[in-house]
Amino acid sequence: MRNQLAGQVAWISGGASGIGAATAELLANTGASVVVADVRDKDGEQLVNRINSAGGKAIYSLCNVASSDQVSNSIESTVAKFGALNIVVNCAGIVHVGLLHDYASDDWDQLMGINVKGIFFTLKHAFPHFQKNDRSYMVNVGSISSHVGQRSTPAYTTSKGAVLSLTQSIALDYAAIGLRCNCVNPGITDTPMLRQHLNTTPNPDETLQQRVRRVPMNRAMQPDEIARTILYLSCEDSAGVTGTSIVVDGGYLAAAEWDTADDLRD
Ligand SMILES: NC(=O)c1ccc[n+]([C@@H]2O[C@H](COP(=O)([O-])OP(=O)(O)OC[C@H]3O[C@@H](n4cnc5c(N)ncnc54)[C@H](O)[C@@H]3O)[C@@H](O)[C@H]2O)c1
Repeated sequence: MRNQLAGQVAWISGGASGIGAATAELLANTGASVVVADVRDKDGEQLVNRINSAGGKAIYSLCNVASSDQVSNSIESTVAKFGALNIVVNCAGIVHVGLLHDYASDDWDQLMGINVKGIFFTLKHAFPHFQKNDRSYMVNVGSISSHVGQRSTPAYTTSKGAVLSLTQSIALDYAAIGLRCNCVNPGITDTPMLRQHLNTTPNPDETLQQRVRRVPMNRAMQPDEIARTILYLSCEDSAGVTGTSIVVDGGYLAAAEWDTADDLRD
């Protein structure tokens, strides 16, 4: 693997699990010093131990992204430890399953606080450090629901639409300081969040099979496949790319059909 992130410092929210954890490992493997910012202490500590044992550089930082003070403290301790901040990956997210008329006001606010306001806070507190760099990178994790609706998850779908809009706004407003801001929009990806969502259905395995039948590649994405796109957007391999999104969904959004094609190989 190329060492293309040597000397770079990356702060990753939601870094303790799923896509964020795969991103933390990949960025560390390609030379970055990594801060895993999350609310899951045990998972976060285990992950950074694994990265450091493999020769990488990582620390865990307890940080609820819905709190401006906690994001500020986490980013300041990143710079205190590693001397700079070059890459921010906003991966922290939650999903709330239910119909809108059953939502409590707090359900809505909690989800928006994490999935959307968290990005506002990271930009706010990363800005003074980004200003010192020639180039900086922000990658936000949206979803296929940044582009289309999904049933029974109205706040989540709204939040992911907002992630794409916010990505575009940040790209426009901060291009002048050398920041490129992009969005990676995963499809069905096999992570603890997906499993938690499936477990709200009567037959989780059958639900997964049904969903995957809708994916032309006929499988769920793996966290590492999303992480590789995040890496691409976190370095000069993607020079010139800003204010846009890359969908990693096995073809889901390209399809109007409901069944995958027959295998045409002999
Ligand atoms: N798994 C999928 O199918 C899928 C599809 C599209 C988009 N996504 C998005 O990918 C991102 C990562 O999801 P995942 O599937 O890896 O889920 P995950 O549950 O495995 O990981 C999410 C991480 O975010 C952390 N987190 C939650 N609230 C937080 C908070 N307030 N502050 C800091 N960290 C917090 C969790 O502790 C967890 O470590 C999310 O933004 C999610 O919406 C996932």
